Amino acid sequence: MPISLASTVKLNTGAEIPVVGLGTWKSAPGRVEEAVEYALKKAGYRHIDTATDYGNEKEVGEGIKASGVPRESIFVTTKLKNDDHDKVEQALEYSLKQLDTPYIDLWLLHWPAPMLSPTGDGKPNRDLDWLDTWKELERVHLANKNKVRAIGVSNLSVPFLKRLLKEAKVIPAVNQIELHPSLPQKEVVKVTEEAGILLTSYSPLGSDESPLLTDEVIVKIAKKYNVEPAAILVSFQVAHPNRTVLPKSVTPSRISANAQIVELTPEEFAEIDKIGESKIFRVCNPTWAGWGDLGFDLSKEKESE
Ligand SMILES: NC(=O)c1ccc[n+]([C@@H]2O[C@H](COP(=O)([O-])OP(=O)(O)OC[C@H]3O[C@@H](n4cnc5c(N)ncnc54)[C@H](OP(=O)(O)O)[C@@H]3O)[C@@H](O)[C@H]2O)c1
Repeated sequence: MPISLASTVKLNTGAEIPVVGLGTWKSAPGRVEEAVEYALKKAGYRHIDTATDYGNEKEVGEGIKASGVPRESIFVTTKLKNDDHDKVEQALEYSLKQLDTPYIDLWLLHWPAPMLSPTGDGKPNRDLDWLDTWKELERVHLANKNKVRAIGVSNLSVPFLKRLLKEAKVIPAVNQIELHPSLPQKEVVKVTEEAGILLTSYSPLGSDESPLLTDEVIVKIAKKYNVEPAAILVSFQVAHPNRTVLPKSVTPSRISANAQIVELTPEEFAEIDKIGESKIFRVCNPTWAGWGDLGFDLSKEKESE
C-alpha cells in the first residue's frame, strides 16, 4: 500500500508510530504553534517531534490543543536536554508540564553528551557518563510507564550503540539520527536495525538552505511526479522499510507539500542513493558544537569539504 500520513510502523514496545512526523527544531517562537495546529488539523499529520532544547515544548503543546485532534490520536516525541543529564526525573516533569500533556509517547536521550548544568555554558560535564543517564532514563520509564510510554536515543554512533547494547535493560525503541541522501550513515543504520531499534531520519531535507532541494536528480524526479523536491527527499527516507522521517517546516503550504509521498521506482531510489557517494555533508556535527568525539566517522565529510 502506498505510504501516507496515516501509515504507521511498530516500535519494539508494540506501539505504532506514524511514519511521517513534523519537525520543530528552529521553528521560530510565534510560528510553531500555528505550524503544529496546521499540520494536525489541516494537513493530517499525527506525529510531532520536539525537544526541551528547542525551547518550544509549550508552544507545541498549545498547537496540539488548538488543533482539536484528540491527544490519543497524536504521537509526541520530546528529548532530554544535554544539561539535564543530572536531573532526568525533573526533566520529564518539566516536559510534561510544558507540553501540558499527561504522557509522552517517546522520550529520547537527545545526545550522548552530558553538559554542565545549570549554566549550560557549552562545556562537557566530565563527571557524568551518558550511559548512566540512559540507565536513569530506563529507571524513570519503568517506574512511570503511564507518563513516558517509550524511551529511545538520538545521535548514537556505532561504538556508542554497541556500548549501550551491552548494558541496556530496555532496548531503545528508536535511534533518531541525521539521514538524507548526502548522509546515509550506512553502518549506523545497519547496527541500529540489527538491534531491533527503529530509525528516525532527522534533517531529511538537508535542513536550512539545503543544496539537496536543487540537486538535479531530486529536481528531475520531483518534476516527473509533479511534487516539490522536498517531497522526493521525504519519499526517499520512507522508501527504506521500517523508518520514520521528520520534515520540518513552519510554512503551511510546505507542511502539506512535504506529505505528498510518492512511490519511487528502484531505479529512482538507486539514483538518489548514489548522491551520497559524491556529495556528502552533515548538518549536526557534534565536534563543531565542542562536545568531543561521539564516535561518528567524519573522515569522508572532511575529504569532501
Ligand atoms: N535529534 C536531533 O539531534 C535532531 C537534530 C536535527 C533535527 N532534528 C529533528 O528533525 C527535524 C527536521 O530537521 P531540520 O529541521 O534540521 O531540517 P529539514 O526538515 O531537513 O529542513 C527544514 C528546512 O527546510 C525548509 N523547508 C521545509 N519544507 C520545504 C519545502 N517544501 N521546500 C523548500 N524548503 C522547505 C524549512 O523552511 P521553513 O520552516 O521556513 O518552511 C527549513 O528551513 C527537526 O525540526 C527536528 O524535529 C533532530
